[in-house]
Amino acid sequence: TSWVVPTTSPSPVLDPLRTAANHLRTTSIPVAFPTETVYGLGADATRSSAVRGIYTAKGRPSDNPLIVHIPDLSMLRRLLSPSSPGNDPIPAIYHPLIARFWPGPLTILLPLPSPSPLAPEVTASLSTFGVRMPASALARTLISLVGSPLAAPSANASTRPSPTTASHVYDDLQGRIELVIDGGACAVGVESTVVDGLCDPPAVLRPGGVSLEEIRECEGWERVERGYEDKAQEGREAPRAPGMKYKHYSPRARVVLFEKGGEREGVGQEEMEGLVGKKTVAVIRTGGWGRECVEGFGVVVKDVASKEGGNEGIEVGEGELVDRGGRKVARFLDVNLGKDVKGVAHGLFAALRELDRLGADVIFVEGVDDRHDMAEAVMNRLRKAASEIRA
Ligand code: TXA
Ligand code: MG
Repeated sequence: TSWVVPTTSPSPVLDPLRTAANHLRTTSIPVAFPTETVYGLGADATRSSAVRGIYTAKGRPSDNPLIVHIPDLSMLRRLLSPSSPGNDPIPAIYHPLIARFWPGPLTILLPLPSPSPLAPEVTASLSTFGVRMPASALARTLISLVGSPLAAPSANASTRPSPTTASHVYDDLQGRIELVIDGGACAVGVESTVVDGLCDPPAVLRPGGVSLEEIRECEGWERVERGYEDKAQEGREAPRAPGMKYKHYSPRARVVLFEKGGEREGVGQEEMEGLVGKKTVAVIRTGGWGRECVEGFGVVVKDVASKEGGNEGIEVGEGELVDRGGRKVARFLDVNLGKDVKGVAHGLFAALRELDRLGADVIFVEGVDDRHDMAEAVMNRLRKAASEIRA
């Protein structure tokens, strides 16, 4: 099994991409590839057996539809109306979004053409499909070389945090796939924003790399609504993006999210005191907290020093939690992602994975203000990581 495509050949980028494209055309084992959001697990979207290979590798429920990735608009137009070039088959409502955000972290919903060139497994029996043009040049070159759109969910094992480096993919899918294209760390770090412009008013179904405010600035999108629900889902209708109902983004550790302002979702003082006594206690800070994040629950932070050689760009401090008598009650791990929301989005999944790797039993996460920028996407992922909703 060759894991990471070697880059020592005469044409260091194109040869490995050709190898991967050939694998995608001729086998039913998906290939992991980088995008600007997260790594995707791709398969030829027009071949059923290839698409089924994705569900098998991920252990993903098959009622959760996949996003179709295209390298350029001409492939999308061919997909929508193979026989009649001329009229633009892309609904006018999407034109301003496409002009502004493609290639980039935005997924649009389109009516499935009839007859559909897409494998039915892509859409999980819905009458629409989601499509996006990734900003990553590696991704677009790969798709062009395959000559077919690639269906691709995030390349994590189902329920795990999305992968933002090739080694995250390797950790999850080792033994289940044969090729990972290593394009380094993903620039954005959270998934694409999913929008539905086929309804009135149009809606955002999943917050992501493009913010609601940016979408609202586009013609025809001034009244865009939130079509997702973040807080407790009980008593609500089925979420409109089917994937939103599953447990998601979860490290092995218990995640406790502090909303901005310090409020904890569903964890009382007594339970907090129990949690700070676990063997390894971790915190992810976003610039507001110092040590007080765990102090006030009967423990004090002692001797935090930077660990050697931060893995995947995530710097972890390590120290101890001691009780009032100075006795050690827990090992303490500390990650500071900084105040900038883009930096938090970029490092969030990697931090959750790194703390898992270091053996955290509980991770306290400091929220960000979700009324601006990508903070909404970050908080959405964190609330899911902290919730107990299961598939
Ligand atoms: O950034 C991304 O979008 C990444 C990279 C790899 O491109 N992909 C990704 O795919 O996040 P996935 O499968 O993990 O998430 C797809 C989301 C799910 O929430 C799914 O329910 C929603 O898009 N979705 C896809 N097709 C849909 C449709 N026809 N109607 C409603 N929601 C749909
Ligand atoms: Mg995913």
